[in-house]
Amino acid sequence: MKIHRNSSLKKFNTFNVDELAQLIIEIDNISDLPNILSNKKDEILVLGGGSNILFTKPYNGLIINLKNKGKKIIQEDENTVLVEVSAGENWHEFVLWAIKNNFGGLENLSLIPGNLGAAPIQNIGAYGVELKDIFYSCKGLMLDTLSEFEFKKTECKFDYRTSIFKSTLKNKTVITSVKLILTKSKHNFNIDYKDLNINLQDTELSVKKISDEVIKIRTSKLPNPKFFGNCGSFFKNPIVNSDTYKSLLDKFPNIPAHKIDEDNYKISAAWLIDQSGFKNKKDKNVGVYENQPLVIINNGKATGKELLNFALNIKETIYNNFEIELEEEVIIM
Ligand code: EPU
Repeated sequence: MKIHRNSSLKKFNTFNVDELAQLIIEIDNISDLPNILSNKKDEILVLGGGSNILFTKPYNGLIINLKNKGKKIIQEDENTVLVEVSAGENWHEFVLWAIKNNFGGLENLSLIPGNLGAAPIQNIGAYGVELKDIFYSCKGLMLDTLSEFEFKKTECKFDYRTSIFKSTLKNKTVITSVKLILTKSKHNFNIDYKDLNINLQDTELSVKKISDEVIKIRTSKLPNPKFFGNCGSFFKNPIVNSDTYKSLLDKFPNIPAHKIDEDNYKISAAWLIDQSGFKNKKDKNVGVYENQPLVIINNGKATGKELLNFALNIKETIYNNFEIELEEEVIIM
């Protein structure tokens, strides 16, 4: 256990924002959790890898940063394994472990920043796969009663970049471990996503080959937070109904969209931002990433407020141009 008082949050968030936190407790042993939580009356924030959060002011409560480690296969049959992973494990290191063992299901989710415990919160997703596709359950504690829970997939109410932990149970739980079902054979490869399909369609697929390709694409499109602070996509891709989509298509025939079902279309937020003149746009310490305008970057000196104002400017411009309200994917504090 490590305690930091009145300390900078800079190394706890991938936007690299330098705000102060009153108290940060890093916890490696989750048996310490009940004691810490029961003695605290302050507001509590559970922080994972800090890769989806923007601090815009000092945080005057307790920040719990889980560092608990461990993964074990708890059940296995001919074709699948059920793996339980501790919340403090790094997501991509875990993916690499699975790839090395030729376990399938995580390959499209390679190189996503953050920790295991945060993955269910926003149902992380990339290249046609979401956490919910391999999720079995997660365990944790309720912050108020300290009672333990294990929520199965349906109870987590997963949807596009959201779950019960971002809605009714927002800031009410701490997730301590996650169970995932992976394939040992008969893998369900998914290379439908355009970028993946181009390079892999005529090759013999493997878990490793898809992972390597995803890593290649992500490295070319997304900035490394070590060089440019960022939290991946700042906004969600907006979902509009088919009437709205048709009228957008009349006005903007090139608008990229993906049909979700009969009534709904997901519109490319990157395209809306690009078309609104933000491609390569910089404003002092803040800008959009040259290869992916959905990613807002910090040149190293930006404050959380500067980043937020820049994002709000994008949001307002998109609304004025397209009458579409972008919704933040990043949690604003
Ligand atoms: N585009 C432009 N201009 C650009 C770049 C992209 O118009 O400069 C348009 C193009 O039409 C392109 C489209 O944006 O085809 C889509 O770009 P990309 O494949 O990068 O996907 P995205 O929809 O922008 C989503 C996720 C990413 C995820 C990728 C791949 C959201 C909010 N974002 O981005 O997730 O990696 O798909 O699956 O759903 C994240 O959540 O932090 C994240 C990075």
